[in-house]
Amino acid sequence: MTYQNYSLKQLQQIDAAHHLHPFTDHKELREAGSRIITHANGPFIYDADGTEILDGMAGLWCVNVGYGRDELAEAAYTQMKELPYYNSFFKCSTPTPVLLSKKLAELAPRGVSQVFYGSSGSEANDTALRLVRHYWALEGKPEKNRIISRKMGYHGSTIAGTSLGGMEPMHKQLGGAVPNIVHVMMPYAYELALPGESDHDFGLRAAKAVEDAILEAGADKVAAFIGEPVMGAGGVKIPPMSYWPEVQRICRKYDVLLMLDEVITGYGRTGEWFAAQTFGIEPDTITTAKALTSGYQPLSALLVGDRIAATLVEKGGEFYHGYTYSGHPVACAVALKNLEIIEREGLVDRVKNDTGPYFAQALQERIAGHNLVGEVRSIGLMGAIEIVKDKATKERYLPSGSAAVVVRDHAIAQGMMLRATGDTMILSPPLIWTRETIDMACERIAKALDLAEVDLRKR
Ligand SMILES: Cc1ncc(COP(=O)(O)O)c(C=O)c1O
Repeated sequence: MTYQNYSLKQLQQIDAAHHLHPFTDHKELREAGSRIITHANGPFIYDADGTEILDGMAGLWCVNVGYGRDELAEAAYTQMKELPYYNSFFKCSTPTPVLLSKKLAELAPRGVSQVFYGSSGSEANDTALRLVRHYWALEGKPEKNRIISRKMGYHGSTIAGTSLGGMEPMHKQLGGAVPNIVHVMMPYAYELALPGESDHDFGLRAAKAVEDAILEAGADKVAAFIGEPVMGAGGVKIPPMSYWPEVQRICRKYDVLLMLDEVITGYGRTGEWFAAQTFGIEPDTITTAKALTSGYQPLSALLVGDRIAATLVEKGGEFYHGYTYSGHPVACAVALKNLEIIEREGLVDRVKNDTGPYFAQALQERIAGHNLVGEVRSIGLMGAIEIVKDKATKERYLPSGSAAVVVRDHAIAQGMMLRATGDTMILSPPLIWTRETIDMACERIAKALDLAEVDLRKR
């Protein structure tokens, strides 16, 4: 039975009766009723009322090739008929993860040529955490197991992901984190740069926090540093260009592994295949998921550097880790086709040379001047709008986080899906957006800001 046999109201009632949503205040949602999205095409999603909404978030940072791609559906269908599932345990493999591993090794930054699969970014980060600690144990340094991460970092929602991440409200619900993970300052110049401090200097100071944490623990106790190249869920916080090369220099100096979480930035979002290339660094692990399949199938790939892989292979024996769906043949078939589409349509280059710069300029020219906007920033097709009460002093509306939600609700009513996180609006559209789509988005966001200002000034 398909959903067409149910009215919108019935679907909402059943949803409220049985469905526990992720990251949701269940009581609030059940009172309001959920928005049921029924179909999508290109850059647009449609709800059960038939309302067309421009998707400024590519689903949840993932639908990079846009919706309605027959080729991806056909890749899944063909693979399902041929071999819907077989595992990669018991010394077996199936063709699609084999071929996808080769492709990922070709695309990955230098020194990274091995792949471990899961179904989600959280799982991939669990794998990464286990792997780096296992690596040091195999190297005869089991006490070198501390991980340095950042406040407000997001690395997923499992116990390991939450522990690695730096989201305090999540930690409070954890009932005990994975031990030996510490969190240092984030490279967020808008709020944390000192008066008169240049972007460059701020980047170096934020990197110094990593060195301080290494020295405090002792380098012989620190396994790795993990970070998102651009903090996504924490508010599209784009570090100064000085930050990552300095973090890499520090990690190398103390023989600390560099783990990049590219679950959002991987596969073109910043105008290169990986943000490691955008920031000019060579990490030891790269966590990827989301846009690997453009969200058409759940799949994650932890890209593993050759240094770690060599130890794992030569000294490791059996690594007691893996998932039923590691290297799922259907998900890998879809990923292969998705990467082919991204390449064929030149989407990564387009972000770098056309839509990325145009997006940055449009945000600056059409959004930054609004009374409610403290700052706009973007990199590739990933952007943020800081919502403030007072542009000059950067004062926010209280309670914290309440103003961005007002903007978001007006934006959705204007046919524009974007996300509010804290006091920041975030955007991460499909890479198929054109200049015309960017124009449409800016028009709708500007209107939403105008309407939100009327509401907020009444407070
Ligand atoms: C940087 C980062 N890492 C990890 C994750 C977790 O991925 P998943 O939700 O697929 O477990 C996310 C999800 O948004 C993410 O943004």
